[in-house]
Amino acid sequence: MSSDSPTKIPNLQPQHEQPTSPPPPLNPSWTWRIRKLLQGGNRQLLTRKDVPLRDLSGKWILITGSNNGIGRSAAHFFAECGANLVLACRPNPPAYETRPEDVVAECEVLGREAAKSHGEGKGQRIEVWDVDFSRLSSVVALAERWRETGRGLDVLCNNAGISSSFYAGVAPSASDERGAEGAWMRRTGDGFELVHQVNFLAHCLLTFLLLPSLARTPDPRIVCTTSNLQFFASVDALERFDGKGLRSGDSLYGNNKLFLQIWISELQRRLDSAEEEPYRSVRIDGVHPGTADTGIWHRQDSAGEGSGVSGWLKRLPDRAFKQLASLSIISPEQGAHAIVNAATKPREEVGESRVEGEGRAGGKYFNRIWETEPMPHCSDVRTREFVWRKTLEELRAYDRDLVSRLPSFVKTPS
Ligand SMILES: NC(=O)c1ccc[n+]([C@@H]2O[C@H](COP(=O)([O-])OP(=O)(O)OC[C@H]3O[C@@H](n4cnc5c(N)ncnc54)[C@H](OP(=O)(O)O)[C@@H]3O)[C@@H](O)[C@H]2O)c1
Repeated sequence: MSSDSPTKIPNLQPQHEQPTSPPPPLNPSWTWRIRKLLQGGNRQLLTRKDVPLRDLSGKWILITGSNNGIGRSAAHFFAECGANLVLACRPNPPAYETRPEDVVAECEVLGREAAKSHGEGKGQRIEVWDVDFSRLSSVVALAERWRETGRGLDVLCNNAGISSSFYAGVAPSASDERGAEGAWMRRTGDGFELVHQVNFLAHCLLTFLLLPSLARTPDPRIVCTTSNLQFFASVDALERFDGKGLRSGDSLYGNNKLFLQIWISELQRRLDSAEEEPYRSVRIDGVHPGTADTGIWHRQDSAGEGSGVSGWLKRLPDRAFKQLASLSIISPEQGAHAIVNAATKPREEVGESRVEGEGRAGGKYFNRIWETEPMPHCSDVRTREFVWRKTLEELRAYDRDLVSRLPSFVKTPS
């Protein structure tokens, strides 16, 4: 992985720009946070009545991280709906995860069976494309490859993600000076903390680059797999945007899921007021899939024994807590309903009932298939603006020219 390559910390502050300082922290009560977190453990069994198969023949859907877990199950569902799919995956996943080629074969079978029984998906195409979100050049290559096909993109599912479990036990002691600089963190070859890049920054970049392809389709959607762990983001999350100064890796996952949900709100606001009409039809939402038994629970510091969701349960401190947690676990298939619902439900049924002139009603947070309130940061103008500016700063540090070519509503100050 490129995090092994020599670390290059980018100069994140382009010279002619004012430093972006964080707004005062928002800190909703812990009672509220815990209630929201527990909501995410809802394991109501969803059926095809709740999330029906819809005819998606002729549509193109790109799903990141679709060789395993929730993304793989979402791919199965979309294949049954007859959609054309691009599974954007790492070519060599870890041994405990499914190989992308196997998922292509699974989708082809499901697509063929669906076509036989109800005629959907004739001429369906299922492709696997390489991408590694720990290398931004790979994200750019993926987007360029898409644009070269000349295809419109109906649905982009920003789903790939990693936990920060590999940081367990590596946090520095309080007296370790290097800790204050976050020098113990794993950085990618692009210079960003690994969880931040894979779960957040790389997906922002992919979205920006694919917006023109999305804007060419009649009902473009972007679905981002966020998480209820946004409610457990650290109070100083914004001050530690790239993880710098964090004293432990524990908060990185929740912090970056929070950044993603905030960025979604701001992107939707900007899309809604874009001068170029086609962008105004793009809808983006964040979904928490539920607590699903997937590869994300595999601790990257352990092999076999103790890995997966059962290993995680075993490590929980007491019996009552273990039982409570085990009650919230759902299958990857159940988890995938969140993605499919946000990607395919008719707009008028997903909160499109807006006052005229008030935008397209996206930018929401869904706990599984139910819309609910995200962290208050998402409706705070200064916070949204801060996350937006920081994201562009980081992407400019990676490639200023690339950012200068993005649509104007992305680059203009709020
Ligand atoms: N499971 C849950 O309870 C839960 C709850 C809330 C949110 N989520 C979110 O759901 C999403 C899907 O996760 P999951 O639960 O289905 O876990 P998973 O089974 O581990 O799937 C994660 C996917 O992301 C891919 N990925 C990881 N690093 C990558 C990289 N550098 N480049 C490209 N792809 C990469 C993985 O590919 P490899 O096979 O190559 O590793 C895998 O396909 C994640 O964003 C996760 O944060 C999960």
